[in-house]
Amino acid sequence: MGTLEQTLSTPLGVVEWFVYLLAAVMFVIGLHLMNSPKTARRGNLISAAGMVMACVMAFAVLFVNEASNGFQHAVAVALLVLGIVIGAVAGVWSAKKVKMTDMPQLVSVFNTVGGGAAALVALNDILTSESAPSLVVLITAGLGVLIGSVTFTGSLVAAGKLQGLKFMRKLTLPAKAVWNVAFAVLAVLAFVMLCAQPEQRLLWSVLVTVFALCYGLVFVIPIGGADMPVVISVLNACTGTAVAMSGLAINNIALIVAGALVGAAGVTLSIAMSKAMNRPLVSVLAGGFGGSDAASDAAEGPEGTMKETTADDVAVQLVYADKVIFVPGFGLAQAQAQRELADLGELLKGHGVEVSYAIHPVAGRMPGHMNVLLAEANVPYEELVDLDDINPQFPSANVALVVGANDVTNPAARRPGTPVSGMPILDVDKAQNVVVMKRGRGKGYAGIENELYFKDNTQMLFGDAKAGLQAVIAAVKELLA
Ligand code: TAP
Repeated sequence: MGTLEQTLSTPLGVVEWFVYLLAAVMFVIGLHLMNSPKTARRGNLISAAGMVMACVMAFAVLFVNEASNGFQHAVAVALLVLGIVIGAVAGVWSAKKVKMTDMPQLVSVFNTVGGGAAALVALNDILTSESAPSLVVLITAGLGVLIGSVTFTGSLVAAGKLQGLKFMRKLTLPAKAVWNVAFAVLAVLAFVMLCAQPEQRLLWSVLVTVFALCYGLVFVIPIGGADMPVVISVLNACTGTAVAMSGLAINNIALIVAGALVGAAGVTLSIAMSKAMNRPLVSVLAGGFGGSDAASDAAEGPEGTMKETTADDVAVQLVYADKVIFVPGFGLAQAQAQRELADLGELLKGHGVEVSYAIHPVAGRMPGHMNVLLAEANVPYEELVDLDDINPQFPSANVALVVGANDVTNPAARRPGTPVSGMPILDVDKAQNVVVMKRGRGKGYAGIENELYFKDNTQMLFGDAKAGLQAVIAAVKELLA
């Protein structure tokens, strides 16, 4: 793609520019509508329509502009059609099949594809220009290649770790800081040389790509599960930035706006996540603040034994309590048991028990996950209480009922030297009695044992959260009959 003047010099160029502008406006409107659950669906559809328009336009431009060049034209069109078909099938399949709880992996895969595509677009722009590109193009395209390549490998490793692939979790990196600094410096040096010696652009752009790909690997390999949510949002911000840079290089307004939106949203989310998890963003970026997955896997568990309980016994505790705090987590989402939890809350409230829901800012798999889930089950908003407000209330709670929450309740966070040290937790262990509902002895996202489960005042109700809550509801109803 040429300069803006070149684009606007033909009727097709004018149409192209306006279509991309319209697509960009639709992305902004779509994102704005995603502010509220009521309009989010419409927002998604409008953004998707904008993306379809942009793809159709790209296809039309290629079709018309390359029409004179027989064989090349046919290959280009065939590749484009193939790309659209593969992308559409993969998109529809993932939207239908991937579970809500597997969203972080999916986001990571999208980041991989987005970062890789942005890097390829920028690389193509640098390498196919006949004369040496201007400094502005070299800087923007070079940054597109650099950031896009880091995102590609980094997101690939992140997706593998999130999916729980054993060989990914076992990966370790001795002297991680050295590798991190070495590849970061090499990638930036190659980028500077690319800008300084445009006539050697093939050599320097290949080196930028290789060093950036390596940096993406050494950046994410040492990072453990506990810090992964922050890393994913950082990589998301990188994808957006790489796309915007590539858009600037090839002068495509739809790419610039879409990239800027994703980049800005990613930065905002990264800051919010690192604040919520009490992790300085810089420390996470410097490579594995809280320790690797391998270190988590090797960590020794707490001493003591877990005490099992039954649904009948839990029902008795709940019915005779004055104050009960529910602590929902990822397992509640996994089991889709939000309605059962809300029903149990209503039953207990009807019996005069004070019920509230403790909401940890990152419980589940993303900020706001529990709020959305419980709103779906019509839990009154005032019963959802934030970490700072609920923590002082635990000592006065007769029962804290933990449903599929793990890491966000681990008292190990209060001690130094653990993968979760320093992260804010819900003070569940300070409640008079604690009941934990989970399927078995599985670890949480951070991959370490939870000391809460071994405390004297804790009892475990093993089983799927939905089935477990249904059993407790039935037992409560029997008691109240
Ligand atoms: P997790 O730590 O992921 O734990 C979820 C628990 O739910 C698992 O231990 C699992 O145990 C259980 N579970 C899964 N499916 C279930 C089902 N169908 N029924 C019942 N239980 C089920 O969840 P969380 O506590 O919500 O925290 C996750 C978030 O916190 C992640 O984003 C993580 O990065 C972040 N994190 C925060 C901190 C802080 S701030 N303190 C520390 C580390 C991590 P079973 O397999 O045994 O059922």
